[in-house]
Amino acid sequence: MNPSEEIKAKLDIVDVLRDYIQVRPAGVNFRALCPFHKEKTPSFLISPDKQIWHCFGCGKGGDIFTFVMEMEGLSFVEALRLLAPKAGVILSSANFKNDSARNRLLDIMSFAVQVYHHLLFNDPSAAPARAYLQERGLTEETIDNWQIGFSLDSWEAMTSRLKQKGFREQEIFLAGLAIKREERSSYYDRFRGRLMFPIRDLNGNPVAFSARVLPAKEKTEKLGKYINSPQTPIYDKSRIVFGLDAAKRAIKEQDLAVIVEGQMDAITAHQHGFQNVVAVSGAALTAEQIALIKRFTNNLALSFDMDAAGLEALRRGAKEAWRAEMNINVIAHAAKDPDELIRKNPAYWSKAVSQARPAMEYLMDKYERENDMEKIAHRKVLAKEGLSFIAAMKNKIDQDFWLKKLGRKIDVSEAILKEALAAAAGREIAFKPETAVPAQPATKREEKASDTLLALMLKLPVLAEYVFQRLEPGQIIGEANRRIYKYLQIFYNNFSRPDNDSDRRPDTFVLSYEDFRAWLESSGQSAENTQILNDLNKIVLLGERDFFDFSLDQARQEMISLCLFLKKNYLSARSRELEKMLAAAEQKDDREKIDLFSKQFKELQSEIRSLERSSR
Ligand code: UTP
Ligand code: MN
Repeated sequence: MNPSEEIKAKLDIVDVLRDYIQVRPAGVNFRALCPFHKEKTPSFLISPDKQIWHCFGCGKGGDIFTFVMEMEGLSFVEALRLLAPKAGVILSSANFKNDSARNRLLDIMSFAVQVYHHLLFNDPSAAPARAYLQERGLTEETIDNWQIGFSLDSWEAMTSRLKQKGFREQEIFLAGLAIKREERSSYYDRFRGRLMFPIRDLNGNPVAFSARVLPAKEKTEKLGKYINSPQTPIYDKSRIVFGLDAAKRAIKEQDLAVIVEGQMDAITAHQHGFQNVVAVSGAALTAEQIALIKRFTNNLALSFDMDAAGLEALRRGAKEAWRAEMNINVIAHAAKDPDELIRKNPAYWSKAVSQARPAMEYLMDKYERENDMEKIAHRKVLAKEGLSFIAAMKNKIDQDFWLKKLGRKIDVSEAILKEALAAAAGREIAFKPETAVPAQPATKREEKASDTLLALMLKLPVLAEYVFQRLEPGQIIGEANRRIYKYLQIFYNNFSRPDNDSDRRPDTFVLSYEDFRAWLESSGQSAENTQILNDLNKIVLLGERDFFDFSLDQARQEMISLCLFLKKNYLSARSRELEKMLAAAEQKDDREKIDLFSKQFKELQSEIRSLERSSR
């Protein structure tokens, strides 16, 4: 087995996809909302048996590799590298070329994490850093889990270490670990004398650092309490949520993501067993971060400082959450931050989380409390702000609920508020246009029928012969379908034989999907072959989706009527064509052709009539 086959064999496609999307069982298969296009009803299907997926809405499909590549924007080799550790497969450099620019940067970051972590425990100059972490109550286990480290107070310690390891200055610079001196084209370490917190992507790869100054220098340090990695080819701040790799499992289990501001808050929370906590690093939640979290839950609870900046972050984050149809609550407490509260008493924190209130309610109550609602001007402000929130809510039930509630609060009729909402909705759209979904080409009924027919033939191969006897490849609609049908026929003619073994179930008839696929795969890697294998995935999943619980009889009925439909359709098209040819011949008064076409036309008509009789 090559590494990609080994990875596929060891990983369950459903488990892998669960990290990205919410999947629900549907018979022996799984369904989800497609992550690649906007949809309200799930048309994304996963077959654990066949280890493939397909979306019937946008037409994308493939295996775990294509999914991860598409989802994470990776090349095949990068996807291999991402999935290998999950499968416990070790990739040797002989296995594949491991030198994509992205992989090099990931290597730099992993190595830097190790070095910083090692320095924290082993360098004498790290003693104050160790003492500070202890003072903040972090255990050694926590420091180890999060791979917290220390950067030496030096201009070139890390850069030269990385150069020794074989990385180029340009790469170290690109990874964000070195800064370029403009005047002399030389580089120096970005992080010096600080506590180093690795920031990881969803797969646990370190992609950046957040570096905290030590308290002794906190007052005098001009660069700020934290300095962070800049945006790099592997780090997009708006697409990373601190701690999500460690929290995702608990978030899914508890169906709730708790979001705090500081990474220290998140780390302390985890240490005390609150594993569904992530941090947004002192900024508002972005739409991309929301989308990441939405893979695991639809419920958010926010604990931000309620100063002006925190409130603004809450307003912005809540709107993004509503746009993504997520529920967002606010955790209120009196402590300085979650870190302080948890360390005082973890039970206080549990209680605060369980008492979290809907963000909308929180924001409106807060405004009411702080303003004089007898004044019309204040009511107008509340109306305007409330409506801008309601306009962001994509969920109609939420919208209706809050519209009524807002109406009562400011004593304005729902009808008037609804009118005002239309204006606010206009602004909402102007603010953030819906991502355009490419229009699906209308699938013709005939093409759909052909899809279905093939799906049935692959699902219950024992019925295939019935179809072969009745339909020519030309009567199957859709180029891909015709190709599959043609190959299926060749395969059938060459390999299938009636299965008389009484103890074999009819659907294990010799012409099995697996055999057919293996035969196609073994017959070379031509472009047509690759194409047909892809098309086949789609068809097979269609069968899984629509017929997983069909009995043989039901399937036969369905098949008969599909055959009839396609045949009739074909005959009618043929007869329309003949009619035209006949008219042209009459115009030219071409006796011979008139006779021929009339005869063919009559034959066709009688064939259609007999078909109609048989279908009654
Ligand atoms: P906090 O000041 O709440 O940080 O800022 P904290 O994590 O609780 O750190 P401690 O408790 O003082 O050690 C919240 C987040 O904002 C970002 C950091 O990501 C921090 O975790 N931040 C803060 C910066 O990026 N730069 C700064 O100068 C300050
Ligand atoms: Mn703090």
